[in-house]
Amino acid sequence: MEKIFEVKNLSYTYRKNQVQALKDISFDVKKGEVFGILGPSGAGKSTTQKILIKLLKDFKGEIEYLGQPLNSFGNQFYEDVGVGFELPVHFSKLTGKENMEFFARLYKKHADIDDLLEKVGLLEDKDRMVGDYSKGMKMRLNFVRAMLNDPKILFLDEATNGLDPKNAYIIKQLIREFKHAGGTVILSTHLMNDVEELCDRIAFISGGVIREISTPRELKIRYGKRIVDVEYRLNGQTESETFDLEKIGENQKFLDILKNNQIETIHSGETSLDDIFIKVTGENIHEDA
Ligand SMILES: Nc1ncnc2c1ncn2[C@@H]1O[C@H](COP(=O)(O)OP(=O)(O)OP(=O)(O)O)[C@@H](O)[C@H]1O
Ligand SMILES: [Mg+2]
Repeated sequence: MEKIFEVKNLSYTYRKNQVQALKDISFDVKKGEVFGILGPSGAGKSTTQKILIKLLKDFKGEIEYLGQPLNSFGNQFYEDVGVGFELPVHFSKLTGKENMEFFARLYKKHADIDDLLEKVGLLEDKDRMVGDYSKGMKMRLNFVRAMLNDPKILFLDEATNGLDPKNAYIIKQLIREFKHAGGTVILSTHLMNDVEELCDRIAFISGGVIREISTPRELKIRYGKRIVDVEYRLNGQTESETFDLEKIGENQKFLDILKNNQIETIHSGETSLDDIFIKVTGENIHEDA
């Protein structure tokens, strides 16, 4: 598959406080994939995205965009990319539609504004001041603003963070649609659900280092532990026990329970990406979330 980005030995240090946010990371992003950057707060997710969208320039290492050095692209690069920032920035005294019109002027070409607003259920509210929008409405507006220039690549930083399930669903559907239309998505998150549902590949990042890059499925096979949970009655009470699936037919305790106790529930479980993340990085992804 064609590579959109190829990143080699990327390091970045914030000058003002000398924090080394990224330490020699290498990865690529392929055309048409949803690439997830996953890690706890402070891991370097936003820094990585900001470098790829040319907001932070004094990095060390090599970055190619479509086979050419990223630095060799001028402002035409921004015709290709859509960016949804962590914290939505809108003009609160302007209406939703006016906000979109303002940002549309920054691009040579742009998608139909009403169509976009309709996609995220904001058409009816397009003439209301954004200051009066709810948080979910602002985030939906933020998302379609990223789609304004009909981009080839979408950068999303915590696009569904703090959204209720309905709003999160709307955004996830739009991400899928974008991908199916041939777009590439680079998203960062600490929400495992998003990753499992959306990403073709994920990079686990902590402390500015990529610890693992793979598909969610591959990671589960590699790090996953196959287990079975059994709940059963013992002396009038419900007891539960977890067994390893390997050689379960030779596990005497398991066999005894099956034979001698009333089983209430029995199901196999697979290791969650959360568990795998902890295993790979030694850190809890939710520690300060
Ligand atoms: N503008 C900045 N100036 C100085 N240091 C910064 C700046 N932005 C981030 N850092 C530092 O760089 C490191 C990586 O931060 P980054 O924002 O990339 O993390 P993140 O993974 O996006 O975290 P979060 O999940 O909280 O958004 C952190 O140690 C952070 O304190
Ligand atoms: Mg961030």
